[in-house]
Amino acid sequence: MDRQAMAIRKLQEAHQEHVLRFWDELTGDEREALASQVMGIDFSVLEAAQEGPAASDSGTVRPLPALELGEVEREKDRFEAAGLKALQEGRVCAVLLAGGMGTRLGSSAPKGMFDLGKTRHVFIFQRAFEVLLAVCGRIGRPIRFFIMTSELNDKATRAFIEEQNYFGYDPAYVTFFTQDMAPAVDFAGHVLMESKGRIATAPNGNGGWLTSMARAGLLEVMHREGIEWINVFGVDNVLARICDPVFVGATLLSGCATSVKVVRKAFPEEKMGVMCLKDGRPAVIEYTELTDELRNEKNDKGEPAYNFGVTVNYLFHLGEAEKVMNGNFALHLARKKIPCIDAAGCPVTPDEPNGIKFELFIFDLLSQMPGCLPVEVVREQEFAPVKNRTGVDSVESARRLLELNGISL
Ligand code: UTP
Repeated sequence: MDRQAMAIRKLQEAHQEHVLRFWDELTGDEREALASQVMGIDFSVLEAAQEGPAASDSGTVRPLPALELGEVEREKDRFEAAGLKALQEGRVCAVLLAGGMGTRLGSSAPKGMFDLGKTRHVFIFQRAFEVLLAVCGRIGRPIRFFIMTSELNDKATRAFIEEQNYFGYDPAYVTFFTQDMAPAVDFAGHVLMESKGRIATAPNGNGGWLTSMARAGLLEVMHREGIEWINVFGVDNVLARICDPVFVGATLLSGCATSVKVVRKAFPEEKMGVMCLKDGRPAVIEYTELTDELRNEKNDKGEPAYNFGVTVNYLFHLGEAEKVMNGNFALHLARKKIPCIDAAGCPVTPDEPNGIKFELFIFDLLSQMPGCLPVEVVREQEFAPVKNRTGVDSVESARRLLELNGISL
Protein backbone atom coordinates (compact mmCIF):
# COMPACT_ATOMS: atom_id res chain seq x y z
CA MET A 1 0.00 0.00 0.00
CA ASP A 2 1.40 3.44 -0.86
CA ARG A 3 1.63 6.28 1.64
CA GLN A 4 -1.54 8.03 0.49
CA ALA A 5 -3.58 4.83 0.82
CA MET A 6 -2.09 4.20 4.27
CA ALA A 7 -2.96 7.73 5.36
CA ILE A 8 -6.55 7.30 4.15
CA ARG A 9 -6.85 4.03 6.08
CA LYS A 10 -5.38 5.66 9.19
CA LEU A 11 -7.91 8.50 8.98
CA GLN A 12 -10.78 6.05 8.60
CA GLU A 13 -9.64 4.08 11.62
CA ALA A 14 -9.42 7.28 13.67
CA HIS A 15 -12.85 8.46 12.41
CA GLN A 16 -11.29 11.54 10.88
CA GLU A 17 -12.29 11.12 7.24
CA HIS A 18 -13.36 14.77 7.03
CA VAL A 19 -9.63 15.58 6.68
CA LEU A 20 -10.05 14.36 3.10
CA ARG A 21 -12.95 16.71 2.35
CA PHE A 22 -10.90 18.75 -0.15
CA TRP A 23 -8.73 15.85 -1.39
CA ASP A 24 -10.01 16.20 -4.99
CA GLU A 25 -8.93 19.84 -5.07
CA LEU A 26 -5.37 19.14 -3.91
CA THR A 27 -2.39 18.86 -6.26
CA GLY A 28 -0.25 15.73 -6.22
CA ASP A 29 2.34 17.44 -4.01
CA GLU A 30 -0.31 18.71 -1.61
CA ARG A 31 -1.81 15.22 -1.29
CA GLU A 32 1.62 13.81 -0.59
CA ALA A 33 2.24 16.50 2.05
CA LEU A 34 -1.09 15.81 3.76
CA ALA A 35 -0.51 12.05 3.70
CA SER A 36 2.89 12.56 5.25
CA GLN A 37 1.45 14.83 7.96
CA VAL A 38 -1.26 12.25 8.72
CA MET A 39 1.31 9.45 9.02
CA GLY A 40 3.29 11.54 11.53
CA ILE A 41 0.33 12.27 13.82
CA ASP A 42 -0.51 10.20 16.87
CA PHE A 43 -4.31 10.22 16.82
CA SER A 44 -4.53 8.30 20.08
CA VAL A 45 -4.30 11.67 21.87
CA LEU A 46 -7.81 12.38 20.61
CA GLU A 47 -9.17 9.72 22.93
CA ALA A 48 -8.10 11.99 25.80
CA ALA A 49 -10.68 14.53 24.59
CA GLN A 50 -13.41 12.00 25.21
CA GLU A 51 -12.00 10.84 28.53
CA GLY A 52 -12.39 14.21 30.24
CA PRO A 53 -9.98 15.74 32.77
CA ALA A 54 -6.37 14.63 32.97
CA ALA A 55 -5.47 11.94 35.46
CA SER A 56 -3.64 14.49 37.61
CA ASP A 57 -6.99 15.84 38.83
CA SER A 58 -7.37 12.99 41.30
CA GLY A 59 -5.29 11.72 44.23
CA THR A 60 -4.66 12.46 47.88
CA VAL A 61 -2.87 15.76 48.29
CA ARG A 62 -0.37 16.41 51.09
CA PRO A 63 2.14 19.25 51.56
CA LEU A 64 5.74 18.89 50.31
CA PRO A 65 8.05 21.06 52.41
CA ALA A 66 10.47 23.30 50.53
CA LEU A 67 14.05 24.12 51.37
CA GLU A 68 13.27 27.59 52.64
CA LEU A 69 15.32 30.75 52.28
CA GLY A 70 16.74 30.70 55.82
CA GLU A 71 18.14 27.23 55.36
CA VAL A 72 19.48 28.00 51.89
CA GLU A 73 21.24 31.04 53.35
CA ARG A 74 22.74 29.03 56.25
CA GLU A 75 24.09 26.33 53.90
CA LYS A 76 24.93 28.67 51.02
CA ASP A 77 28.71 28.11 51.03
CA ARG A 78 28.40 24.35 51.09
CA PHE A 79 25.76 24.31 48.33
CA GLU A 80 27.67 26.80 46.20
CA ALA A 81 30.92 24.85 46.41
CA ALA A 82 29.20 21.62 45.35
CA GLY A 83 27.37 23.38 42.52
CA LEU A 84 30.46 25.16 41.24
CA LYS A 85 32.38 21.89 41.19
CA ALA A 86 29.67 20.15 39.12
CA LEU A 87 29.48 23.09 36.72
CA GLN A 88 33.26 23.27 36.39
CA GLU A 89 33.35 19.58 35.59
CA GLY A 90 30.81 20.16 32.78
CA ARG A 91 28.20 17.95 34.44
CA VAL A 92 25.35 20.46 34.06
CA CYS A 93 23.69 21.72 30.88
CA ALA A 94 20.89 24.19 30.21
CA VAL A 95 17.70 23.62 28.20
CA LEU A 96 15.61 26.63 27.22
CA LEU A 97 11.93 25.94 26.56
CA ALA A 98 11.02 28.33 23.76
CA GLY A 99 8.45 26.30 21.85
CA GLY A 100 5.40 28.06 23.28
CA MET A 101 3.18 30.27 21.17
CA GLY A 102 3.12 33.18 23.61
CA THR A 103 -0.45 33.99 22.62
CA ARG A 104 -1.11 36.12 25.69
CA LEU A 105 1.70 38.48 24.72
CA GLY A 106 -0.09 39.01 21.45
CA SER A 107 2.88 38.99 19.09
CA SER A 108 3.34 36.50 16.28
CA ALA A 109 7.14 36.59 16.70
CA PRO A 110 8.84 34.16 19.12
CA LYS A 111 8.44 35.47 22.66
CA GLY A 112 12.20 35.59 23.17
CA MET A 113 12.49 38.25 20.47
CA PHE A 114 10.45 40.69 22.53
CA ASP A 115 12.52 43.73 23.43
CA LEU A 116 12.10 44.96 27.01
CA GLY A 117 14.67 47.72 26.56
CA LYS A 118 13.88 51.42 26.59
CA THR A 119 17.22 53.02 25.74
CA ARG A 120 19.01 49.87 24.56
CA HIS A 121 18.00 46.40 23.43
CA VAL A 122 17.10 43.96 26.18
CA PHE A 123 15.56 41.04 24.33
CA ILE A 124 14.04 38.23 26.38
CA PHE A 125 16.45 35.74 24.76
CA GLN A 126 19.32 38.06 25.56
CA ARG A 127 18.61 37.75 29.28
CA ALA A 128 19.03 33.98 29.19
CA PHE A 129 22.29 34.19 27.24
CA GLU A 130 23.69 36.90 29.49
CA VAL A 131 22.81 35.08 32.70
CA LEU A 132 24.46 31.93 31.39
CA LEU A 133 27.49 33.84 30.15
CA ALA A 134 28.00 35.27 33.63
CA VAL A 135 28.07 31.74 35.09
CA CYS A 136 30.44 30.60 32.33
CA GLY A 137 32.73 33.50 33.24
CA ARG A 138 32.67 32.45 36.86
CA ILE A 139 33.44 28.77 36.25
CA GLY A 140 35.91 29.45 33.45
CA ARG A 141 34.28 27.21 30.85
CA PRO A 142 31.30 27.20 28.49
CA ILE A 143 28.03 25.52 29.45
CA ARG A 144 26.22 23.35 26.90
CA PHE A 145 23.05 25.17 25.92
CA PHE A 146 20.08 23.49 24.16
CA ILE A 147 17.17 25.54 22.84
CA MET A 148 13.77 24.00 22.17
CA THR A 149 11.67 25.64 19.48
CA SER A 150 8.56 24.43 17.65
CA GLU A 151 7.78 24.01 13.97
CA LEU A 152 6.03 27.35 14.20
CA ASN A 153 8.90 29.46 15.48
CA ASP A 154 12.07 27.49 14.76
CA LYS A 155 13.20 29.40 11.69
CA ALA A 156 12.54 32.82 13.19
CA THR A 157 14.24 31.89 16.47
CA ARG A 158 17.40 30.56 14.85
CA ALA A 159 17.63 33.48 12.43
CA PHE A 160 17.23 35.99 15.25
CA ILE A 161 19.80 34.42 17.56
CA GLU A 162 22.29 34.09 14.71
CA GLU A 163 21.70 37.69 13.71
CA GLN A 164 22.41 38.73 17.31
CA ASN A 165 25.65 36.71 17.22
CA TYR A 166 24.39 34.46 19.98
CA PHE A 167 24.65 37.46 22.31
CA GLY A 168 28.34 36.69 22.73
CA TYR A 169 27.91 32.98 23.50
CA ASP A 170 30.09 30.49 21.66
CA PRO A 171 27.77 29.00 18.97
CA ALA A 172 29.64 25.69 19.20
CA TYR A 173 27.92 25.15 22.54
CA VAL A 174 24.40 26.01 21.37
CA THR A 175 22.08 23.40 19.82
CA PHE A 176 18.52 23.98 18.63
CA PHE A 177 15.91 21.25 18.49
CA THR A 178 12.19 21.29 17.70
CA GLN A 179 9.48 19.85 19.88
CA ASP A 180 6.74 17.54 18.66
CA MET A 181 3.36 18.82 17.49
CA ALA A 182 -0.11 17.53 18.42
CA PRO A 183 -3.32 17.87 16.40
CA ALA A 184 -5.94 20.42 17.46
CA VAL A 185 -9.60 19.33 17.53
CA ASP A 186 -13.06 20.85 17.75
CA PHE A 187 -15.24 20.12 20.76
CA ALA A 188 -16.65 17.03 19.06
CA GLY A 189 -13.17 15.52 18.75
CA HIS A 190 -12.67 16.13 15.01
CA VAL A 191 -9.28 17.48 13.99
CA LEU A 192 -9.39 21.03 12.71
CA MET A 193 -7.97 21.88 9.30
CA GLU A 194 -5.53 24.76 9.03
CA SER A 195 -6.01 24.75 5.24
CA LYS A 196 -7.50 22.36 2.71
CA GLY A 197 -4.33 20.31 2.68
CA ARG A 198 -3.08 20.66 6.24
CA ILE A 199 -4.31 19.61 9.68
CA ALA A 200 -4.11 22.29 12.40
CA THR A 201 -1.44 21.34 14.92
CA ALA A 202 0.11 22.99 17.94
CA PRO A 203 3.28 22.41 19.99
CA ASN A 204 2.64 19.51 22.39
CA GLY A 205 3.33 21.45 25.58
CA ASN A 206 6.46 22.18 27.58
CA GLY A 207 6.51 18.57 28.81
CA GLY A 208 7.49 17.53 25.29
CA TRP A 209 11.14 18.53 25.81
CA LEU A 210 12.57 15.22 26.99
CA THR A 211 11.20 12.87 24.32
CA SER A 212 11.86 15.51 21.66
CA MET A 213 15.49 15.71 22.80
CA ALA A 214 15.71 11.93 22.79
CA ARG A 215 14.36 11.78 19.24
CA ALA A 216 16.91 14.35 18.13
CA GLY A 217 19.71 12.18 19.58
CA LEU A 218 20.60 14.85 22.12
CA LEU A 219 20.46 12.65 25.22
CA GLU A 220 23.27 10.61 23.66
CA VAL A 221 25.19 13.82 23.09
CA MET A 222 24.76 14.63 26.78
CA HIS A 223 26.07 11.21 27.82
CA ARG A 224 29.03 11.55 25.48
CA GLU A 225 29.88 14.92 26.95
CA GLY A 226 29.62 13.74 30.55
CA ILE A 227 26.49 15.77 31.33
CA GLU A 228 24.51 14.42 34.30
CA TRP A 229 22.14 17.24 35.20
CA ILE A 230 19.75 19.20 33.01
CA ASN A 231 18.62 22.68 34.05
CA VAL A 232 15.36 23.19 32.15
CA PHE A 233 13.90 26.69 32.18
CA GLY A 234 11.17 28.72 30.51
CA VAL A 235 11.76 31.66 28.25
CA ASP A 236 9.44 34.06 30.14
CA ASN A 237 11.17 34.63 33.44
CA VAL A 238 13.63 37.41 32.69
CA LEU A 239 15.12 37.26 36.19
CA ALA A 240 15.71 33.50 36.14
CA ARG A 241 19.10 32.44 37.46
CA ILE A 242 20.12 29.60 35.24
CA CYS A 243 22.76 27.07 36.24
CA ASP A 244 22.81 28.76 39.61
CA PRO A 245 25.59 27.07 41.63
CA VAL A 246 23.62 27.27 44.91
CA PHE A 247 20.57 25.60 43.36
CA VAL A 248 22.70 22.96 41.65
CA GLY A 249 24.64 22.21 44.84
CA ALA A 250 21.52 22.06 47.03
CA THR A 251 20.03 19.52 44.61
CA LEU A 252 23.14 17.37 44.34
CA LEU A 253 23.60 17.21 48.10
CA SER A 254 19.91 16.43 48.72
CA GLY A 255 20.00 13.08 46.96
CA CYS A 256 16.85 14.04 45.00
CA ALA A 257 16.76 13.38 41.25
CA THR A 258 14.87 16.61 40.53
CA SER A 259 14.44 20.04 42.00
CA VAL A 260 12.54 23.18 41.20
CA LYS A 261 12.90 26.81 42.17
CA VAL A 262 9.82 27.98 44.02
CA VAL A 263 8.63 31.35 45.27
CA ARG A 264 6.37 32.20 48.16
CA LYS A 265 2.95 33.06 46.80
CA ALA A 266 2.16 36.77 46.91
CA PHE A 267 -1.39 36.07 48.20
CA PRO A 268 -3.35 32.84 48.75
CA GLU A 269 -5.44 33.11 45.56
CA GLU A 270 -2.48 33.83 43.29
CA LYS A 271 -2.78 31.93 40.02
CA MET A 272 0.28 29.74 40.42
CA GLY A 273 0.72 25.99 40.56
CA VAL A 274 2.12 24.90 43.94
CA MET A 275 4.26 21.98 44.98
CA CYS A 276 2.64 19.13 46.87
CA LEU A 277 2.69 15.38 47.28
CA LYS A 278 -0.05 13.59 45.36
CA ASP A 279 -0.55 10.01 46.46
CA GLY A 280 2.86 10.30 48.08
CA ARG A 281 4.64 11.45 44.88
CA PRO A 282 5.97 14.96 44.21
CA ALA A 283 3.50 16.88 42.07
CA VAL A 284 2.26 20.31 41.18
CA ILE A 285 -1.29 21.22 42.01
CA GLU A 286 -2.67 23.87 39.72
CA TYR A 287 -4.48 26.88 41.17
CA THR A 288 -7.69 25.69 39.55
CA GLU A 289 -7.46 22.45 41.56
CA LEU A 290 -6.63 24.10 44.89
CA THR A 291 -9.81 23.82 46.92
CA ASP A 292 -10.63 26.32 49.70
CA GLU A 293 -9.85 23.59 52.20
CA LEU A 294 -6.33 23.09 50.82
CA ARG A 295 -5.81 26.83 50.43
CA ASN A 296 -6.58 27.37 54.11
CA GLU A 297 -4.63 24.37 55.41
CA LYS A 298 -1.72 25.29 57.70
CA ASN A 299 1.56 23.46 58.30
CA ASP A 300 3.06 22.89 61.78
CA LYS A 301 4.59 26.39 61.69
CA GLY A 302 1.09 27.82 61.28
CA GLU A 303 1.86 28.96 57.72
CA PRO A 304 -0.16 28.07 54.59
CA ALA A 305 0.70 24.47 53.75
CA TYR A 306 0.58 25.03 49.96
CA ASN A 307 2.44 28.26 49.65
CA PHE A 308 5.30 27.66 47.24
CA GLY A 309 4.55 28.46 43.63
CA VAL A 310 6.65 26.72 41.00
CA THR A 311 8.70 28.67 38.50
CA VAL A 312 9.77 27.03 35.25
CA ASN A 313 13.31 26.38 36.46
CA TYR A 314 13.97 22.70 37.10
CA LEU A 315 16.91 20.39 37.49
CA PHE A 316 16.56 16.82 36.27
CA HIS A 317 19.04 14.01 36.69
CA LEU A 318 19.60 12.74 33.15
CA GLY A 319 19.84 9.02 33.96
CA GLU A 320 16.76 9.03 36.18
CA ALA A 321 14.73 11.08 33.69
CA GLU A 322 15.59 8.63 30.91
CA LYS A 323 14.25 5.74 32.96
CA VAL A 324 10.77 7.25 33.14
CA MET A 325 10.47 9.34 29.98
CA ASN A 326 8.41 6.81 28.02
CA GLY A 327 5.80 6.51 30.77
CA ASN A 328 2.17 7.36 30.37
CA PHE A 329 1.91 11.07 31.03
CA ALA A 330 -1.39 12.89 31.48
CA LEU A 331 -2.48 14.97 28.52
CA HIS A 332 -3.85 18.34 29.52
CA LEU A 333 -6.66 19.77 27.46
CA ALA A 334 -6.69 23.49 26.81
CA ARG A 335 -9.65 25.26 25.20
CA LYS A 336 -8.12 27.73 22.74
CA LYS A 337 -8.91 29.97 19.79
CA ILE A 338 -7.58 27.98 16.86
CA PRO A 339 -7.49 29.57 13.40
CA CYS A 340 -8.84 27.05 10.87
CA ILE A 341 -11.07 26.60 7.85
CA ASP A 342 -14.74 25.66 7.97
CA ALA A 343 -16.55 22.88 6.09
CA ALA A 344 -16.80 25.13 3.04
CA GLY A 345 -13.06 25.78 3.10
CA CYS A 346 -13.39 29.41 4.27
CA PRO A 347 -10.87 30.74 6.84
CA VAL A 348 -12.14 31.18 10.41
CA THR A 349 -10.45 33.46 12.95
CA PRO A 350 -12.34 32.72 16.17
CA ASP A 351 -13.06 35.31 18.86
CA GLU A 352 -13.93 32.60 21.36
CA PRO A 353 -12.26 29.24 22.00
CA ASN A 354 -13.35 26.88 19.23
CA GLY A 355 -11.27 23.85 19.96
CA ILE A 356 -8.88 21.89 22.13
CA LYS A 357 -5.12 21.61 22.18
CA PHE A 358 -3.35 18.74 23.88
CA GLU A 359 -0.37 19.53 26.04
CA LEU A 360 2.13 17.66 28.16
CA PHE A 361 3.28 19.62 31.20
CA ILE A 362 6.86 19.59 32.38
CA PHE A 363 5.88 19.13 36.00
CA ASP A 364 4.16 15.80 35.34
CA LEU A 365 7.62 14.30 35.01
CA LEU A 366 8.33 15.13 38.67
CA SER A 367 5.99 12.51 40.05
CA GLN A 368 7.85 9.74 38.23
CA MET A 369 11.24 10.78 39.58
CA PRO A 370 12.85 9.58 42.80
CA GLY A 371 12.46 12.64 45.00
CA CYS A 372 11.99 16.32 44.23
CA LEU A 373 13.47 19.22 46.17
CA PRO A 374 11.59 22.53 46.00
CA VAL A 375 14.13 25.31 46.65
CA GLU A 376 12.81 28.70 47.71
CA VAL A 377 14.32 31.77 46.05
CA VAL A 378 13.84 35.48 46.74
CA ARG A 379 10.84 36.30 44.64
CA GLU A 380 11.72 39.94 43.87
CA GLN A 381 15.19 38.90 42.74
CA GLU A 382 14.40 35.84 40.64
CA PHE A 383 10.86 35.95 39.37
CA ALA A 384 9.71 38.27 36.61
CA PRO A 385 7.62 36.30 34.11
CA VAL A 386 6.48 37.97 30.91
CA LYS A 387 3.11 36.50 30.02
CA ASN A 388 0.91 39.50 29.21
CA ARG A 389 1.38 42.97 27.73
CA THR A 390 0.09 44.76 30.80
CA GLY A 391 -1.02 43.99 34.35
CA VAL A 392 0.01 40.84 36.21
CA ASP A 393 3.12 39.02 34.93
CA SER A 394 3.51 41.46 32.11
CA VAL A 395 6.01 43.47 30.12
CA GLU A 396 5.31 46.32 32.57
CA SER A 397 5.88 44.31 35.75
CA ALA A 398 8.98 42.61 34.32
CA ARG A 399 10.51 45.96 33.34
CA ARG A 400 9.93 47.27 36.85
CA LEU A 401 11.52 44.19 38.41
CA LEU A 402 14.52 44.28 36.06
CA GLU A 403 15.17 47.89 37.00
CA LEU A 404 14.75 47.11 40.69
CA ASN A 405 17.51 44.54 40.26
CA GLY A 406 19.85 47.08 38.71
CA ILE A 407 19.42 45.99 35.10
CA SER A 408 19.29 49.10 32.96
CA LEU A 409 16.74 49.12 30.17
P1 UTP B 1 3.31 29.05 28.83
O1 UTP B 1 2.51 28.07 29.56
O2 UTP B 1 3.38 30.43 29.36
O3 UTP B 1 2.77 29.07 27.31
O4 UTP B 1 4.76 28.45 28.65
P2 UTP B 1 3.13 30.02 26.09
O5 UTP B 1 2.74 29.24 24.88
O6 UTP B 1 4.53 30.52 26.10
O7 UTP B 1 2.20 31.28 26.28
P3 UTP B 1 0.63 31.47 26.08
O8 UTP B 1 -0.04 30.62 27.11
O9 UTP B 1 0.30 31.04 24.67
O10 UTP B 1 0.43 32.94 26.29
C1 UTP B 1 5.70 28.31 29.68
C2 UTP B 1 7.03 27.94 29.05
O11 UTP B 1 6.90 26.71 28.33
C3 UTP B 1 7.29 26.89 26.98
C4 UTP B 1 7.09 28.37 26.70
O12 UTP B 1 7.88 28.75 25.58
C5 UTP B 1 7.52 28.96 28.01
O13 UTP B 1 8.93 28.99 28.11
N1 UTP B 1 6.46 26.03 26.11
C6 UTP B 1 5.11 26.02 26.24
C7 UTP B 1 7.08 25.25 25.18
O14 UTP B 1 8.33 25.27 25.06
N2 UTP B 1 6.32 24.45 24.40
C8 UTP B 1 4.96 24.42 24.48
O15 UTP B 1 4.33 23.66 23.75
C9 UTP B 1 4.35 25.22 25.44
